[in-house]
Amino acid sequence: MSARPSAADPYPELAAVFDARFGGAPAALVRAPGRVNLIGEHTDYNDGFVLPMAIDREIRIALRPRDDGRVRIFAADLSEEASFTLAALERGRGWQEYVKGVAWALQGQGLALTGWDGVMAGDVPRGAGLSSSAALELAAARAFQATSGFAWEATRMARLCQLAENRWVGVNSGIMDQLISALGREGHALLLDCRSLEGEPVPLPPGHVVVVLDTGTRRGLVDSAYNERRRQCEEAAVHYGVPALRDVAPETFEATAAGLAELPRKRARHVIGENARTLQAADAMRRGDANELGRLMNASHTSLKEDFEVSSEALDAIVACAQEHPACRGARMTGGGFGGCAVALVELPAVDSFVQAVTACYDTEGRKASATVCRPSDGATRVR
Ligand code: GLA
Repeated sequence: MSARPSAADPYPELAAVFDARFGGAPAALVRAPGRVNLIGEHTDYNDGFVLPMAIDREIRIALRPRDDGRVRIFAADLSEEASFTLAALERGRGWQEYVKGVAWALQGQGLALTGWDGVMAGDVPRGAGLSSSAALELAAARAFQATSGFAWEATRMARLCQLAENRWVGVNSGIMDQLISALGREGHALLLDCRSLEGEPVPLPPGHVVVVLDTGTRRGLVDSAYNERRRQCEEAAVHYGVPALRDVAPETFEATAAGLAELPRKRARHVIGENARTLQAADAMRRGDANELGRLMNASHTSLKEDFEVSSEALDAIVACAQEHPACRGARMTGGGFGGCAVALVELPAVDSFVQAVTACYDTEGRKASATVCRPSDGATRVR
């Protein structure tokens, strides 16, 4: 496994594991990235705006078609193999449900799928809020496309992967993670309209980098809290008589909040403010204004902590450590919340000093941060 990456084979280790496991060479290589969201949190399921970027952490699959309608996949990082028959999908447990769910969603569209043998590996940390599950779904969709030859329509694929997550895996997530893993653009974040599903690439402010700060804490059983937030947002939308909170302007919120119970009101205040901040953040990025983008990120964190109540002690601590550093333009929790990662916008020349200072500030007994500079990457592709 000492071969070097080349244009012909950028993942020689994957091919070596494939050979050892299945014999011979893979016929195709696919990849799909995780993501970090710069701003626009808990807005996607309110038909609102999000501003994530695909990151240079991804899930890769080396694969070769089979002619018996089966899928056999070896997860190299876990040393686990799973297999299933496309014509008789049955629900089970574990990571393979994401692959199966994608097969279920694609077949539900009438697409005829060809099975495959595959080896999968990746470097998206799991449960950290960087969308390892969306990356796995989009990589699986690319794998089926490689063997089955249907057209790759990125937005449609993102919706089908979301359907797999919602209906097969049973996690009630919004569309953001799948959309950015499908549509990501190198060097850019994407302003995504979660109603029209249209995206506009916006460049990172020159001279700045995005640092993902992992608190080392994992979001345990948060499905119920997530679903509760969704219900509260729906309740608020009903109060305002609109299809989704996206349709409430900040002025309307203030003027007609009377009669809305306290919790849905706080949730709505976050979502309505966050939508406005996300549009302003995209504007700031178009102008290359790092200070303004950072200011909006800080405001987003406060709102997520106080009004949406999805932060945690660890997230608040790491965000405060980051915000203290002079080279940090702004920082906030990212993803669903309750643990996992924060994201910071940092001046490039000072990034090493920033990482050192934040870890020194955050680390205490039983608490250890890790920091990764993430580059904005392309969405899911067939590499070979
Ligand atoms: C999770 C969900 C997303 C989104 C975020 C919060 O990551 O999967 O759809 O709702 O939480 O912004």
